[in-house]
Amino acid sequence: MAKTTPNEEQDTAMHPPIDFGNKLKRLRLYYEPSVGVLGVFIVTLCVILCFFYLDYREVIGKVYRVPSKSERFMWIQFGNGSIDNERVDFLKEEGNQCDVFDGEWVWDDDYPLYQSKDCSFLDSGFRCSENGRPDLFYTKWRWQPKQCNLPRFDGKLMLERLRNKRLVFAGDSIGRNQWESMLCLLSSVVADKGSVYEVNGSPITKHKGFLVFKFKDYNCSVEYYRSPFLVQQGRPPSGAPSKVRLTLRLDQMDWNAAKWRNADVLVLNSGHWWNYEKTMRGGTYFQVGQEVKTEMRVEAAYRRSMETVMQWIVNEVNASKTQVFFRTFAPVHFRGGKWNTGGTCHQESLPELGASLVPSETWKQFEAATDVLSNRTSQDRSFELLNITGMSARRKDGHSSLYYLRSQPAPLRKQDCSHWCLPGVPDSWNELLYALFLKREVRTSPPALNSTSLSSDEALIS
Ligand SMILES: *[C@@H]1O[C@H](CO)[C@@H](O)[C@H](O)[C@H]1NC(C)=O
Ligand SMILES: *[C@@H]1O[C@H](CO)[C@@H](O)[C@H](O)[C@H]1NC(C)=O
Ligand SMILES: *[C@@H]1O[C@H](CO)[C@@H](O)[C@H](O)[C@H]1NC(C)=O
Ligand SMILES: *[C@@H]1O[C@H](CO)[C@@H](O)[C@H](O)[C@H]1NC(C)=O
Ligand SMILES: *[C@@H]1O[C@H](CO)[C@@H](O)[C@H](O)[C@H]1NC(C)=O
Ligand SMILES: *[C@@H]1O[C@H](CO)[C@@H](O)[C@H](O)[C@H]1NC(C)=O
Repeated sequence: MAKTTPNEEQDTAMHPPIDFGNKLKRLRLYYEPSVGVLGVFIVTLCVILCFFYLDYREVIGKVYRVPSKSERFMWIQFGNGSIDNERVDFLKEEGNQCDVFDGEWVWDDDYPLYQSKDCSFLDSGFRCSENGRPDLFYTKWRWQPKQCNLPRFDGKLMLERLRNKRLVFAGDSIGRNQWESMLCLLSSVVADKGSVYEVNGSPITKHKGFLVFKFKDYNCSVEYYRSPFLVQQGRPPSGAPSKVRLTLRLDQMDWNAAKWRNADVLVLNSGHWWNYEKTMRGGTYFQVGQEVKTEMRVEAAYRRSMETVMQWIVNEVNASKTQVFFRTFAPVHFRGGKWNTGGTCHQESLPELGASLVPSETWKQFEAATDVLSNRTSQDRSFELLNITGMSARRKDGHSSLYYLRSQPAPLRKQDCSHWCLPGVPDSWNELLYALFLKREVRTSPPALNSTSLSSDEALIS
């Protein structure tokens, strides 16, 4: 594949200057020149070396230059692991205006950031390679914003910054997908795996309720609360029609919300369950106050729930303590059918070329939430959208597809084109989360910058 060639080319291109160094040594042995002659010789040599250097740059340029003028190929820059030096650094002042969600997927040989076999905190449904997925390309893409460079994910730094803190994810199973990615990213830098544990001893396997993982050495916890609607689900009030088995209280937050509000970082999501199949068809209707709204449409109910979430964030969450993110809708990629009618994605092994068409249904779910929420994104970064819909729409290659079962590939007609393989796309969401988390720290507590390794983190980028 072309992807190995540039590196090989570069290796050979780097040899000539080294050979010259050897020649210099040999020449010195033969001539034992006077200091003056040696000076002239060195200057000449420098000039020659400069020529070689320029030449070498040009060679590299030729090998590397993808047709950068052509937008069509922008996404397929075969990087060599380093980050483009011309862009500003997101964490620096110049990066303040950068929209980190506007960018492209670039190949990066340094990825993935961990291996699923080394991470015990993964549901088997996300362990695609271990479950038999043949290609590894899907693990190799890094998100590159157009206008700036993101910091490389540094698990140690993240844990250091989370010391004595709580990072809480609340939402549906895609939120769980992201939470498990974060557990793997963070635990991969912890040597003593026994120091990371669930506080109630619960196993990671499919679980209702919540799971709290503690990183003992940092006294920090990384938690997941299952709450696909974010608002309260419960018994209908007396006198409700008999078809109403359960109601969603659109004006009340989930029972567990009291546990979320004191988190230091809170990542919410909701969207995939706001459809007819997962609500009314099973007898779940909407309720506001004491009134059951049997005629209310799902879209309207979703918007109403988002208003409740927003009000809760504004009224109940302490903006000077808690940084709240709402992760936007994660696109699904069923082709030739839906999840229950044989839609597939198992033959996708590359991201979408160029900007992809986000399906209109995805935008509808996206907008229902962002119309309400983007009104309130804050200057101090206490509330932000994790606007991953567009970037993830291009990753039709990233889903579990047939490889969500431990024993054997799933039947062709029963594919999972909603959840994501790990390592994979949710790692990139977490890299963005990491960058935004550090960015707020830079703004709100500049002295902390001195204390630990942020400077070394920055050195990596420049
Ligand atoms: C990657 O390429 C850049 C120039 O494009 C170079 O400065 C850097 O040393 C290279 N890194 C590696 C690991 O080859
Ligand atoms: C550990 O973290 C919690 C918050 O998650 C905090 O309340 C507690 O004081 C911390 N313990 C120590 C010993 O710092
Ligand atoms: C909000 O959080 C800040 C920082 O932790 C704290 O100093 C302040 O007392 C909190 N405010 C309320 C109302 O709890
Ligand atoms: C956004 O805010 C404006 C004024 O602050 C308000 O008029 C508008 O209704 C809000 N939109 C939504 C969807 O909440
Ligand atoms: C989210 O990001 C997309 C690009 O992927 C952009 O077009 C859109 O305007 C952004 N939306 C919000 C609400 O920030
Ligand atoms: C940061 O560290 C440098 C020396 O390491 C010191 O001179 C400077 O005062 C420190 N700044 C702050 C804000 O602590």
